[in-house]
Amino acid sequence: MEKLLMTPGPTNIPNDVFNKMSLNIHHRTDEFDEIYKNVNIKLKRLFGCKNDLALLLSSGTGGLEASVVNLFSKGDKLLVLNCGVFGKRFADIARIYGVDVHEKIVEWGKGVIEDELRQELEKEKYKAVYATYSETSTGVKNDIKKLGQVVKNYDSLFIVDIVSALGCVEFNADEFSVDAAIAGSQKGLMCPPGLSIISLSDSAWDAIYNSTIPKFYFDLKKYKDLNMPYTPGTSLILGLDESLNIIEHNGIDNIIKRHKRHSDIVKYGCKLMGLKEFPDSRFNSEILTALYVPEGLSAKEIIKEMSKQGIVIAGGQGKLKGKIIRIGHMGYVKDEYIIKTMKGLGTSLNTIGYKNDTDNIVKQIENMLEAQK
Ligand SMILES: Cc1ncc(COP(=O)(O)O)c(C=O)c1O
Repeated sequence: MEKLLMTPGPTNIPNDVFNKMSLNIHHRTDEFDEIYKNVNIKLKRLFGCKNDLALLLSSGTGGLEASVVNLFSKGDKLLVLNCGVFGKRFADIARIYGVDVHEKIVEWGKGVIEDELRQELEKEKYKAVYATYSETSTGVKNDIKKLGQVVKNYDSLFIVDIVSALGCVEFNADEFSVDAAIAGSQKGLMCPPGLSIISLSDSAWDAIYNSTIPKFYFDLKKYKDLNMPYTPGTSLILGLDESLNIIEHNGIDNIIKRHKRHSDIVKYGCKLMGLKEFPDSRFNSEILTALYVPEGLSAKEIIKEMSKQGIVIAGGQGKLKGKIIRIGHMGYVKDEYIIKTMKGLGTSLNTIGYKNDTDNIVKQIENMLEAQK
């Protein structure tokens, strides 16, 4: 049975992407050079950045590590806005390399507001500030545009993890004053995992040339000017070429609207089922819906029941393991996937003893999807 990946990544992959990935192309050819160049042009439009991007053969975490080893030197001060698993991960990576990490630890389920950031930056001078755009572990979205307006007044670099945000919610690196943005292939970009992509501002490049942390494979200077220092992920780059075509064909503004519409409808349907959302509603992300597991039920059981119907959803991470379930609605998601997921959720809950009027709720969801087409 074909699985429906309704997790906050990896996500569903369109057939055209899979087909493109199967092309047999050698990377040291004019043909691949042309594809690589075009992928970069499309990425620049999607990231909203003027400089070429670095494409690394690694998952998103590799991109986070690459940004640490390239932008910092030992002892540099970094402020991490830690809202969950991925904020903590960035702090952990930076600490390993001797960066002087200061963490603003935010209660899980909440994001950072500008005044809180301003207060931190008034107290201390930082070489860089890190924020997670969409904190996938908690379902929180930070307002990167507003946070960027604060950071730019303090002469610090702004590093943003957009692994689960790019291609789903509004982003423009240059306009949002983001110096380094790190994305991954397996979320809004609708590709399999394995590529991390980093955009870098001129200030970020200055920092790279001054960085003294040792590195080899992830030395971004080697990737400058579309250079491919090592064998690149040819099939992933081919897939990305196709997924970027799909994004451009549909229009990123329409895609962002679709994410919001699906998110609103899933959240509404879950509410009708009596489920409570985990994140504070002020910081709710459109890319996933994170829900408390109802009293007396087990997250594992809900996930297992849904899996029997071919629908994959995720549980909680870190301290939220067992406490929440997460439904992803990012990337390649059609209206019918939303209907199938909500039907699957309702019937799974009924099977394990949490009664809800699934038929009626699904009918409402179908009507809403139709009305808002
Ligand atoms: C916001 C965020 N950052 C970083 C990562 C890490 O990416 P990867 O699992 O590809 O290493 C993820 C993956 O779930 C993520 O959602």
